[in-house]
Amino acid sequence: MSATTALDEIKIGGLGASRRRVEDNRFIRGKGSYVDDIVLPGMLHMEILRSPFAHARIKSIDTSAAWKIPGVRLVLTGEMMASRNLAWMPTLSYDTQAVLATDKVRFQGQEVAAVIADDPYIARDGVEAIQVEYEPLPAIVNPYQAMADGAPIIRDDKLEQPDNVVFDWEIGDQAATERAFAEADLVSRLDLHYPRSHPSPIECCGSVADFNRATQKLTVYITSQAPHIVRAAVALVAELPEHMIRIISPDIGGGFGNKVPVYPGYVISILASILTERPVKWIEDKTGNLISTGFGRDIYLHGEVALRKDGKVLGVRMETLSDHGAFFSDAQPSKFKIGLMHSAFACYDIPAAHLAARGVYTNKAPGGVAYRCSFRVTEAMFFQERMMQAAADDLGIDQAEFRRINFVRDDDFPHRTPYGFLTDSGQYGKCLDIGLEAIGYADFARQKEEAAARGRLLGIGISAMTEPLGAGNSREYDILGIKMFDSAELRVHMTGKAILRTGAKTQGQGHETTWAQIVAHELGIPADDIVVEEGDTDTAPFGMGTYASRSTPVAGAAVAMVSRKIRAKARKLAAHLLEVSEEDVEWELGRFYVRAAPGQGVTIQECAMAAYANMPDGLEPGLEANAYYDPPNLTWPFGCYLCKVEIDPETGVWDVIQFVAVDDCGVRINPMIVEGQIMGGLTEAYAKANMQFITFDADGNCIGSNYMDYLLPTAWETPGFELYEVVTPCPHHPIGAKGVGECATVGGPAAFVNAVMDAVKGFGVRNIDMPLLPDRVYEAITTGRDISGAPPVKMD
Ligand code: CDP
Repeated sequence: MSATTALDEIKIGGLGASRRRVEDNRFIRGKGSYVDDIVLPGMLHMEILRSPFAHARIKSIDTSAAWKIPGVRLVLTGEMMASRNLAWMPTLSYDTQAVLATDKVRFQGQEVAAVIADDPYIARDGVEAIQVEYEPLPAIVNPYQAMADGAPIIRDDKLEQPDNVVFDWEIGDQAATERAFAEADLVSRLDLHYPRSHPSPIECCGSVADFNRATQKLTVYITSQAPHIVRAAVALVAELPEHMIRIISPDIGGGFGNKVPVYPGYVISILASILTERPVKWIEDKTGNLISTGFGRDIYLHGEVALRKDGKVLGVRMETLSDHGAFFSDAQPSKFKIGLMHSAFACYDIPAAHLAARGVYTNKAPGGVAYRCSFRVTEAMFFQERMMQAAADDLGIDQAEFRRINFVRDDDFPHRTPYGFLTDSGQYGKCLDIGLEAIGYADFARQKEEAAARGRLLGIGISAMTEPLGAGNSREYDILGIKMFDSAELRVHMTGKAILRTGAKTQGQGHETTWAQIVAHELGIPADDIVVEEGDTDTAPFGMGTYASRSTPVAGAAVAMVSRKIRAKARKLAAHLLEVSEEDVEWELGRFYVRAAPGQGVTIQECAMAAYANMPDGLEPGLEANAYYDPPNLTWPFGCYLCKVEIDPETGVWDVIQFVAVDDCGVRINPMIVEGQIMGGLTEAYAKANMQFITFDADGNCIGSNYMDYLLPTAWETPGFELYEVVTPCPHHPIGAKGVGECATVGGPAAFVNAVMDAVKGFGVRNIDMPLLPDRVYEAITTGRDISGAPPVKMD
């Protein structure tokens, strides 16, 4: 006998198995348990009164009629919150946000008052009975208005705030960049806008707060991607003892970054439960979610690329202007003012770069939230790839060749990116080649001619990107001073079955399936014998939650490390059972054996039993461990997306003829889940490019507060995607995995837009800003002009 007796890893659901998602058993049967499914004895219901104005002074709030409605138990206003020092709360970006407005309202939909009643309908009646007298103020709906001379100051609550600028920040080597531009044969310039969009998970936000006066325990069921952070925030802000706070994130119907921030509704429901001494449920409606919770994007760019005639990029300049709404509440734990925007151009070997970023307040809901991306990486990669395409066109060089010339080479890792990150691995050229082959790039000129003969415009767009996934390391990343790492706890029961808990929190990504696969890979315990739990702060080890595709890079690594701790202890038990010394024991998947006599062995399950029933003298009983993992670096997956479109010039309608995605996320734990993540991401990317935007009229009314105005693509509109795989293992991750959840949302949009731009460039058009609605494409073709900015609001 030899190591050939090792278990078949795919059969036990280990690494690389396309194991069916175990959580889907309950989801597809309608047996999931979401916050709104929580019903507690004596539970009350809460509704929020929201501001109809984008900017107005509050002159008075009269709640007397609401109090008189039978069944109304409590009416809360900003003044009452202020008496408990809770009218304002800190945001994750070191700003403050109003919980209930006291002085002014600063965006349409802002929380003004709350009614707590016996049922949601009475609470709604109570909200409608509240009389608020507002004095409307001029609304600021874009960053340029915010910076204009004499613009009203939105954050006049902050004494040190002289204007509407949230931050000015810069990074890169300005002097070296200027030298690069002085040496350039050509400078390519582009102005772009990435419109405001909303993560729009199917499930809205909500909480059920349950304060028990007798036990002094506060339990909150909540839609949070980061329950431990909520516990810390409640302990620090509401000054409740941390061990008496239990935060439970049950099943979550999609997060995409929308469920990272702490929202006023959560805080109000907690105070309401403390005051009424009854459980209080708050469930946000769809309009409330769309107009008041964290938005993404909303950023302008002026970009410049310094080029040498032979196609080499010598330097890059980026100036960004971002709209953060009324409160700077970006849910991003980097110390960088604009998230990881400076990950731009990380896959290219560019000697010099400089980025100047300005963020401003406007009368919009808090924006800049990391919507399915690592803290503004989506915008970074979109701008990068639009600039690369424009530069290739300006130089008159083939867009694929241009990228190849500038890619970081496979043997040039670790590589310092132009803005200072360290990337560690990748095969960028190989991914591009696979994509070009799959989309028939070599034959494209012929296809274009053939389409022209039919009166159609054909275009190919390429988008190549590498994304920093896996915040932190703890040296560089923290949330409100809490350093970023993650954790896993594994308990192997005596029969060899196990329970695994982590500090991450799945919202549909499939952690219950894939974490068990990592344990199976490390220990040989079949994945079906491992149950995974996340989201309960009383039981899960402390962790920073799930966003920015950090789970696999950080919590996933902790799962591997905790499994290795268990294996180390199991080895001692095996030596005891086999009556040999530990040094003479070898491991193969699922079994220890004697090196000199491979036929003599014990399974991991036999070791588990021994941990409780037959341990050697002096060895601590039990088979449990936990691991905290602080990654040495981010992981850097790569994606190359290629899109072929055909445009009808008579209407501006464009159809995707073919879309090819080549992703390298290192070792894939579950290839089927990875493919699902990529397809979902590409669908969101298509939505951004094709149909989706949130805009505001001149008074700050949000246009996009429902799914008639804010469009989500269905299976009907969404094109098919062809997926390809390249595997470059992450050198520092214990199983070689890199994150993947966001890659396609991040890299996808530029592929669609570049394809349309490639098709229309013959008309002298350099840019159409997203979404590329048919009327915008038609207007660009017929006028030969760029179409810039968010689509205007058409008033009837
Ligand atoms: O943090 P989040 O879970 O959103 O993103 P992720 O870490 O990229 O993982 C998304 C899903 O894909 C999880 O179920 C992962 O376990 C899975 N995945 C995988 O199977 N292999 C990888 N190399 C990366 C992720």
